[in-house]
Amino acid sequence: MLKIESGLFPLSADGVHVWTFHWPSLPDGLWIQTQKWLSPEEKAQAARYKIPDDRLRFSFGRFLLRFLSGHYLGLDGKDLQMGVAAHGKPYWQEEGEKLRFNVSHSGSWIAMAFAQEREIGIDVQMIDKSSRFNSEKIAGYAFHPLEVEAVKSAPAEEKMQIFFNIWACKESVIKMTGTGLHGALGKFSVLPVPEQERWQIIGCQQISPMIKMASIRMLAFDENYAGAVCIQGTKSPHILKIRSWDDLRQIFE
Ligand SMILES: CC(C)(COP(=O)(O)OP(=O)(O)OC[C@H]1O[C@@H](n2cnc3c(N)ncnc32)[C@H](O)[C@@H]1OP(=O)(O)O)[C@@H](O)C(=O)NCCC(=O)NCCS
Repeated sequence: MLKIESGLFPLSADGVHVWTFHWPSLPDGLWIQTQKWLSPEEKAQAARYKIPDDRLRFSFGRFLLRFLSGHYLGLDGKDLQMGVAAHGKPYWQEEGEKLRFNVSHSGSWIAMAFAQEREIGIDVQMIDKSSRFNSEKIAGYAFHPLEVEAVKSAPAEEKMQIFFNIWACKESVIKMTGTGLHGALGKFSVLPVPEQERWQIIGCQQISPMIKMASIRMLAFDENYAGAVCIQGTKSPHILKIRSWDDLRQIFE
């Protein structure tokens, strides 16, 4: 029995929930819970990370994904079986057609998005503020000409932020389609829509026809990060709700 539209965090048919977690601020006791929730495969994958922070970020991410997915599906998140599509996009084998999700992690942040029966992609990127990072050069070989121009024409003090905003938007698009990087980033362009919160996608539907109706929203983390969520379009517009650990605290503390 699906509980997507009921429970503590009801997710309506036109709803999109984005959860952002600053994982170093999660309570210490949560690590014990995390160990109880991961599948044997996830524990093995976590153990393969050599850098402790990578292991923690991945493990917390999978625990929170399982917890929230279980909540939305009305199932025990510990038992959910993860499948992986052709280019690596994970889905739940139980009711996977109903609940769509996507996860991203970078530095101190984990982000995940959930929707009903519409594809979704999310990305968070730590901004590389080192002087060695040449945003114009990287844009030149990875971005669409319209985006290269946007980076080049930006004032020096805004260049880095603009580069990473574009990068996060583009990754959210290819994570929505599920196609992965594969040299696709230069084939379409993302640009902010003046006076609106959303960004638009211009160009190539060769990657996926889903791009035609999709829309992008920037996400706020802190000044060192850029983030975006890309939502497949359907007839009804979506309603975006942003949530955080504060919404879960009462359950675990
Ligand atoms: C998807 C991708 C762009 C993510 O890159 P990233 O910025 O390093 O990582 P993020 O933290 O934003 O996202 C990682 C999450 O994306 C998800 N993911 C993996 N592949 C995905 C895909 N093709 N589409 C959408 N999401 C994907 C996973 O949930 C992963 O989380 P996990 O580490 O907990 O498993 C990159 O991994 C990619 O291009 N993968 C495709 C590789 C491919 O095509 N393989 C084919 C093998 S046949």
